Amino acid sequence: MGSLNVISHPLIEAKLTRMRDKNTSSQDFRLLLKEISILMGYEITRNFETVDAEVETPICVSKFPVLKESFFTIVPILRAGLGMVDGLLELMPFAHVGHIGLVRDEETHVPTEYYYKMPEGFEKSEVIVVDPMLATGGSAVDAISSLKKRGCTNIRLVNLVAVPEGIAAVQKAHPDVDIYVAAVDDGLNEDAYIVPGLGDAGDRIFGTK
Ligand code: PRP
Ligand code: URA
Repeated sequence: MGSLNVISHPLIEAKLTRMRDKNTSSQDFRLLLKEISILMGYEITRNFETVDAEVETPICVSKFPVLKESFFTIVPILRAGLGMVDGLLELMPFAHVGHIGLVRDEETHVPTEYYYKMPEGFEKSEVIVVDPMLATGGSAVDAISSLKKRGCTNIRLVNLVAVPEGIAAVQKAHPDVDIYVAAVDDGLNEDAYIVPGLGDAGDRIFGTK
């Protein structure tokens, strides 16, 4: 079974509280999401491998750790996942970015894929799927299935707010995938929105609705 990692930190908690506030503007919402993505990135990248390389300090030549050269692909689930990309790219400027467009039907809550574009050779890379919200889990399960169908084997999932139902759905469909979240909320309402949640992440990021 993949691990469930709840990344708790006072800075993340305080920023997320501001995101939950319905009076927070889109501008602030975007900035807070970017800042939390950077803070989460610190934990998500904790197991990255290093190798020793020779460096000449002003005093002498010695060996120090550098990141092992690897191929990483950050995959935002459109639209809301886009809000987490810039923060992670600040930590990992060497990463590539692929996109999966999924939208939930408002009645059935079942997602449909409308866009898919990955960098060449991504299937051999370490893939980090990002989406602020893990509600029913349908979007994340489908996105990961879509990547696996194309040969991807090394996938981790990063969400800002999740609920037990969504976590269970991903763990059932994709037991090999490690999940990283900043908060686990109570559950879903009748419209499959996270309670207490923060509303529709895509709408709040892009100021739609
Ligand atoms: C939202 C969110 C997730 C999905 C989560 O996207 O960004 O992708 O819902 O719900 P689920 O776990 O029940 O699938 P939405 O479909 O509203 O599209 P958007 O990002 O374009 O607003
Ligand atoms: N998608 C969102 O953006 N918010 C939710 O609460 C559930 C799904």
